Amino acid sequence: MSSKSLTLKNVTKKFGSVLALDNFNLEVGVGELVALLGPSGCGKTTALRVVAGLENQDSGNLYVGDKDLSETPAHKRNMGMVFQAYSLFPNLTVEENVAFGLQMRKVSKHERKKKAESLLELVGLPTQGQRFTYQLSGGQQQRVALARALAFEPEILLLDEPLSALDAQVRVNLREEIRRLQLSLGTTTLFVTHDQEEAMAISDRVGVMSHGQLEQIDTPDTLYNKPATSFVASFVGTMNRIPTQLSDGQVQLFGKNFPALKSSNESGSVIALIRPESIGITAGSQDHNAKVLTRLFMGASSNIVCQAIDGTIIQSLMSSNESGDLHPGSEVKLEVLNKEVLVTNA
Ligand SMILES: Nc1ncnc2c1ncn2[C@@H]1O[C@H](COP(=O)(O)OP(=O)(O)OP(=O)(O)O)[C@@H](O)[C@H]1O
Ligand SMILES: [Mg+2]
Repeated sequence: MSSKSLTLKNVTKKFGSVLALDNFNLEVGVGELVALLGPSGCGKTTALRVVAGLENQDSGNLYVGDKDLSETPAHKRNMGMVFQAYSLFPNLTVEENVAFGLQMRKVSKHERKKKAESLLELVGLPTQGQRFTYQLSGGQQQRVALARALAFEPEILLLDEPLSALDAQVRVNLREEIRRLQLSLGTTTLFVTHDQEEAMAISDRVGVMSHGQLEQIDTPDTLYNKPATSFVASFVGTMNRIPTQLSDGQVQLFGKNFPALKSSNESGSVIALIRPESIGITAGSQDHNAKVLTRLFMGASSNIVCQAIDGTIIQSLMSSNESGDLHPGSEVKLEVLNKEVLVTNA
């Protein structure tokens, strides 16, 4: 399969007065899986539809490799697409669904069958080819949709919330299968989701969108540990928001000073952003500064929800083994384990 890079340059798309894409820029490298993540209405589907050619941008350009496809009609773009709703043809068998795009491309019947069989094998449905799609579960239908999108060896694979109609367990399994398949085929992939965990789990890089623009695009680790904006910080993972004062580039948290990341020239009331795993808890300390409200058991780890003396609610993530004796009402000492602290305006 000859995968290509994908580039969007200054793409703008309006629907009436709604600016769905606002000078949008994105580069997806050869064989890379990039997820577009963001709240409802931020322009994720529009970005995908513009790439597929199902929507025309008002301005800006789209490149696959170094070829400008801005004006190329959808059927001449070599892209496979999987949608949120199962969009299989109900009157065709599973195998015919997978082979559909090949028939359109005038591949011989024998070749079509061979290809469809090997793809069904690849997506874990080797014996289902002769069934009709209504005889399949939701997860199986999305596997068929994936096989159909991959059948003609697209240069780019586009996935618009392909897992959102599925049960939690099926979702997790299928997202891992999609990632494994994508890695083994090396297909350049753009994956749209509003589920941050899903995006972080399977992507090389995640682009967080807001109001038709990319706020930040980075590896999951960087997004999580070094969010560029407070929007990204709050959208990716859980974040404690602790009100405090900033002066001389320092904030005080539970009686200790920490250098503030960014905005070090400002001063006054700010919000410190601290991940739950960066909140340390000591039980039975003389100088306690919070009490436990609840302990949410999650298997290997537990989420300890505390209330600080000033009333702020603060979550800490601890191993379940170490937090077994924390109960509602336990008096505890909280501390921040970071060296530096991300702050945002109050
Ligand atoms: N065909 C259309 N006509 C008018 N407005 C549209 C159309 N398609 C999208 N929009 C608007 O453009 C904006 C972006 O929509 P888009 O579907 O790209 O969002 P999204 O990020 O995919 O959201 P979701 O997570 O809900 O799927 C929204 O304000 C939406 O209402
Ligand atoms: Mg959408």
